[in-house]
Amino acid sequence: MNRTENQPPRRVLIASGNPLFGKGLHRLIAQRWGQADVEIRLVVNTAEALALLEEWRPDLVIIDYDDVHVDRAEFLNVFVTGEQPMQVMLVSLQASGGVVVYDRRTLTPAQAGDWLNLPRPPQPEITPTRRERSSPMRHFVIAGILVAVVAVITYLLLVTIGILPEQASAEAVPIDRLFEMHFVAVSFLFALITVLMVYSLIVFRRKRGDESDGRHIKGSTRLEIFWTIIPLVTVLYFSYIGSVILADTQKNDPQALVIEVVGGQWYWTYTYPDFNFTTNELYLPVDRTALLKLRSMDVIHSFWVPEFRVKQDVLPGENFVRELEITPTRLGDFQVLCAELCGLQHAYMVSPVHVVTQADFDSWVDEQMSLAQADPATRGQIIAQNAGCLSCHSVDGTERVGPTWLGLYESEQVLQSGETVEVEEGYLFTAIVDPNMHIPQGFPPNVMPQNYGEMLTNEQIFDIIEYIESLR
Ligand code: CUA
Repeated sequence: MNRTENQPPRRVLIASGNPLFGKGLHRLIAQRWGQADVEIRLVVNTAEALALLEEWRPDLVIIDYDDVHVDRAEFLNVFVTGEQPMQVMLVSLQASGGVVVYDRRTLTPAQAGDWLNLPRPPQPEITPTRRERSSPMRHFVIAGILVAVVAVITYLLLVTIGILPEQASAEAVPIDRLFEMHFVAVSFLFALITVLMVYSLIVFRRKRGDESDGRHIKGSTRLEIFWTIIPLVTVLYFSYIGSVILADTQKNDPQALVIEVVGGQWYWTYTYPDFNFTTNELYLPVDRTALLKLRSMDVIHSFWVPEFRVKQDVLPGENFVRELEITPTRLGDFQVLCAELCGLQHAYMVSPVHVVTQADFDSWVDEQMSLAQADPATRGQIIAQNAGCLSCHSVDGTERVGPTWLGLYESEQVLQSGETVEVEEGYLFTAIVDPNMHIPQGFPPNVMPQNYGEMLTNEQIFDIIEYIESLR
């Protein structure tokens, strides 16, 4: 193609017992390079080819890959040991056959383009850097040290930033131990993945001027078995420890204090069957196991005090009473959170938990029991106090956000509709459970919470009404 006048013609030796093979190639090459620029000889077996190889010194040898008369192994043997620059192509005419090219010379890209338009010019040689020449062991050692360092730092971060809330129950101890093990595992995995990735990105990045393709790696069965078995064993091991610890938190202590817990949209109530009363706040004596028997009034809720770690879904239906054991080990006030999306107020379905000494618990129980036996108006006063009614309704005639309760009962109320009503029990009950039903004149709607009907039992509401009556 771009050959100059003074260059000798290229010598091409074609070895094939099949005359069509030789003739076809002859025509093709002559067309490509021009009849004058190429000298072609055809031979029909290996012996002839080897003889010509010595004597004639061709530039290119094309061998019929499929021909039994041409022993390509013998031929390539001579090709490999020879010194004369030369190129050998093994050409297969089978349907699936390809072309194999052996090259014993260094070509410039321009020369390469000349030779039958080879698919790709040889790459300029890249001087290996010091890093590439160093043994792979060195990379493993450096990366290994980095993985260890990053793993330790990650672990220390995880344990010092305080991911876990205060540990306030005996059940929390084994659970936190499991967390610790997970912290170790995730720190190591995080370091292993990120360090190897970042190390490879930096150390094995493309060198300036290197346009070559990366090495083609087909896979490694040994590596794949290794990285399947290790995680499998790890996960199985963790599930084993997990189940052991779960069993550990369910000891079925016969001495446990039984408390019946009811969750509903959106409140928690606690009944102490031993003492026969119900409250809205959970009191637990410290260092004594409490057995909670939980059920739901409506949808699925989940009883969870993060400081106690253990958590139990609360299911609707009489037959779905779930049990949860908690042994509080720390005095203080905590909060029950609902850990299952249960509707609009789910996020606010919190309720206080008090862990108190046995003595304080006993006196609280006494108070609750005497309250249960007290006259309804006194009970109503305490309930109204606890339910927060008295922060908006005074009992001394002062006007606050809501109407005062002093003299409210049997008084005449002018409603926003202009209607005048007499305050009696039915009116008060509606005003508590559905406060927007009738808003008295001078008071804005939507101020009073709409959920007292759910927070308080009917008995408690009637106790409050009794109290309001007593303020007449
Ligand atoms: Cu109850 Cu969320």
